[in-house]
Amino acid sequence: MPTGDDFKPIRTKPWKFGLHSTEEFGQEEKDLVLGVLEKKRVFRFYGNDKSQSEAYQLEQLYRERTGTKHALAVNAGTSALVAALIGAGIGPGDEVIVPAYTYIATAAAVLIARAVPIIVEADDSLTMDPQAFEAAITPYTKAVIPVHMRGVPCRMDEIMEVATRRGIKVIEDVAQANGGSYKGKPLGSFGLAGCFSFQQYKLITAGEGGMVVTNDETLYERVNI
Ligand SMILES: Cc1ncc(COP(=O)(O)O)c(C=O)c1O
Repeated sequence: MPTGDDFKPIRTKPWKFGLHSTEEFGQEEKDLVLGVLEKKRVFRFYGNDKSQSEAYQLEQLYRERTGTKHALAVNAGTSALVAALIGAGIGPGDEVIVPAYTYIATAAAVLIARAVPIIVEADDSLTMDPQAFEAAITPYTKAVIPVHMRGVPCRMDEIMEVATRRGIKVIEDVAQANGGSYKGKPLGSFGLAGCFSFQQYKLITAGEGGMVVTNDETLYERVNI
């Protein structure tokens, strides 16, 4: 961490309680919203010119930022999780391991995919304990959802090692750590899919919204239909 004269804080004023990202709305955001109204193109699939679609441009930013091949903007972080789970082939009879400390949407998405959430302990970082993850694996376990809580990355080296060795699919819940990285690698790019939220209280917001990123062709085709 830089010190002394090198230290230039990104932010110099305190946050207002609860309004983290919308507090940063300024002229740039106003111009972009008015630009959409002026060109009267509010449907992402209208016309063939992708450069005119804000949704497509946002997806392009996520492809670049996470280094993944595919990104799909959806209506919520919960939808991103549901789409990724179903796209990964998770369904009835499958178990999906989730951490005890998360927002309810992580486990709810597993139920919406008609699978069974299996809840395991968090460690001192308040993210999923990799040992608890491995101890909870059964013959029915198909996937794990590490959640990067409150901007803190999970111990992805250990989680990926267990998941790869045991043949478990990893779907990252990046809802609370948008833009974060672990050992220099962007969060969301470790597993089969990464899921983001743009809900009001998240680091980047559109009020509601979400994004799925993946390098997997089959998962992308399934989430895209
Ligand atoms: C960890 C976590 N996962 C998933 C979600 C669901 O995101 P959304 O509210 O956009 O559906 C949230 C936030 O609400 C969250 O904090």
